[in-house]
Amino acid sequence: MQQNKQMVEAVRNQFKTKFGDVEGNVYAAPGRINLIGEHTDYNGGYVFPGAVDKGMVAEVKPNGTNKVRAFAIDLYEDAEFDLNDQEGPKASWARYIYGVCREMQERGVDVKGFDTAFSGDVPLGSGMSSSAALESCYAFAINDLFGDNKVEKVELAKAGQATEHKYIGVNCGIMDQFASVFGRKGYLIRLNCHTMEYDYFPFDPQGYRLVLLNSCVKHELASSAYNDRRRSCETVFELIKKNHSEVEALSYATLDMLEEVRNQVSDEDYHCAKYVIEERERVLAVSEALTKGDYAVVGEKMYQTHVGLSQDYKVSCPELDYLNEIARECGVTGSRMMGGGFGGCTINLVKDNLYDAFIATAKEKYQEAYGKEPLVYDVVIGDGARKLL
Ligand code: GLA
Repeated sequence: MQQNKQMVEAVRNQFKTKFGDVEGNVYAAPGRINLIGEHTDYNGGYVFPGAVDKGMVAEVKPNGTNKVRAFAIDLYEDAEFDLNDQEGPKASWARYIYGVCREMQERGVDVKGFDTAFSGDVPLGSGMSSSAALESCYAFAINDLFGDNKVEKVELAKAGQATEHKYIGVNCGIMDQFASVFGRKGYLIRLNCHTMEYDYFPFDPQGYRLVLLNSCVKHELASSAYNDRRRSCETVFELIKKNHSEVEALSYATLDMLEEVRNQVSDEDYHCAKYVIEERERVLAVSEALTKGDYAVVGEKMYQTHVGLSQDYKVSCPELDYLNEIARECGVTGSRMMGGGFGGCTINLVKDNLYDAFIATAKEKYQEAYGKEPLVYDVVIGDGARKLL
């Protein structure tokens, strides 16, 4: 993380003020971007994320009790909970930490009480997974402090995902936590979410940049709509499986199989499944294009994904569609909404020589239409969860 030094210093200072002079260990975990492969993780499909240079930094020190005392520096809020407490704290930020403690206990770690302060620089609600960064940071820290690092990395990611399911109520896939734990500087990760096989792809597109434009829209119903989409996919998959027991996940189904059950599913569910099945081909095409350095194809697929997410999966919003349209008009190579949707960022693959004009146009037009400028983040692919000090 670029701001690591400043953030670490701030966390150290706040920790000291709250919990005294004895220093703890300092850990960090990043947010993520995703090049392509959206809403495919919980359908057993491929995703193509990378960790970013923005994330969470936490200082953690065992306190010899059974209680966790936590301080969220950016919110200036405290929380305290007992590790045996069945309910857990109310504040959602504290529930992430609580959930991760419980999940690490389930994975055999004898978690003890600790004091902790944390801070982050992943913009909240931007679709860059600040929550996964928080989960991965504490899963990593707990494994290091109380588990002799015996819990495997993939289980750290799963502990974060289970936290979302059981303690937050979002039935997310594994992509965000996986990227946050497995991220590697300069590489994107192609993960098959069914087999959990993954490959690192070096990502240094000469002559191009990846840039995020934050629509600054936060959709309040995003998590329930997310769970609805997941349910739609499951409904269709169950029906397809009746005819084709060999199909292990919706992502592996074909459009022909989908047509066979068309009359048995709602229009909404049909379009969701269609998007998921088509997205698989796009990710594979992007993988091949990346190995050849063919960024025109990468970009074309990104635009197609946006159309699918907007028109079939229906997780976009007018602001994101508008940012996508501006990118197209400016001749940007690839652009699409990124992450769960209903707000957050578009991810744009733009030629170096178009960058300035694109950003200026996007700011101007978005301001005209929505009375605010999109926020701009240049993507730097960074490392996954780790101990800093
Ligand atoms: C959110 C979820 C992920 C994934 C994306 C959409 O970020 O947490 O698991 O489903 O949405 O691709």
